[in-house]
Amino acid sequence: MSAPILRRLADLRAATARWRGAGETVAVVPTMGALHEGHLSLVRAAKAGADRVIVTIFVNPRQFDNPDDLARYPRTEQSDAQKLAPFGVDAIYVPDPDQVYPAGFATTVSVTGVSAGLCGAHRPGHFDGVATVVAKLFLQTGAELAYFGEKDFQQLMVVRTLARDLDIAVRIIGCPTVREADGLALSSRNVRLPEQARAAAPALYAALSGAAAAIRAGAGIEGALATARAQILAGGYDSVEYLELRAAATLAPLAVLGEPARLLAAAHLGDVRLIDNVPVIPA
Ligand code: PAF
Repeated sequence: MSAPILRRLADLRAATARWRGAGETVAVVPTMGALHEGHLSLVRAAKAGADRVIVTIFVNPRQFDNPDDLARYPRTEQSDAQKLAPFGVDAIYVPDPDQVYPAGFATTVSVTGVSAGLCGAHRPGHFDGVATVVAKLFLQTGAELAYFGEKDFQQLMVVRTLARDLDIAVRIIGCPTVREADGLALSSRNVRLPEQARAAAPALYAALSGAAAAIRAGAGIEGALATARAQILAGGYDSVEYLELRAAATLAPLAVLGEPARLLAAAHLGDVRLIDNVPVIPA
């Protein structure tokens, strides 16, 4: 059976108050819709972790630094609801815009440190927009558990930091990236890849995996990153926006592999920007 679609905060609060009154735990899976198997893996994890699961669908204008990107973002509410039907989620919260940003809304949540560099350097205001909407969704749902994909690793760190710093009583659970058989990380942007670009797209993960293995085996970081960059471009990408090794716990730049790390990249295929990352664990 399809879950109820709630568009007003009062309706969401009425539902969560009933569940909490019955002593049930609540999980939230925040999304912007255009659901794919990556999102559904979060829903599966949430169903296993809590009594009640809310999936939120809200294309958050405040996290888009490019108006064209916002306009092009797929809006597929009906098919999203169909995809969620087999999971038995308890509510799909698709807030009307004024339920998130009412007239006169004047607050921005800005997380420093982990939001610096990487996507933060190339998408001005993006993480402020993410942090602001995620803080609102945490407070509106009152969820004890929240599920995010590791594909957006920097976003996951921003969200963990905001929950910790604002004393929001929610446990953030990061879930592994889901990939196509050829290694391409699932993303709502993949549908915008023309055939030739789609064929080239796995080069990003292949290059990251190769560099991670080389660094783990003792190769110099600079050389491994230069090789990976060349492989991404040779594989058909037009440009590499960033490719960096960072500490997994803090996202601080790393010159040597002295602690668990993450290799993160963003690259462009035509007008589609793809991001990916892989763990690099010291031997
Ligand atoms: O990852 C996303 O889909 C979005 O950034 C999120 C977390 C739902 C906030 O709008």
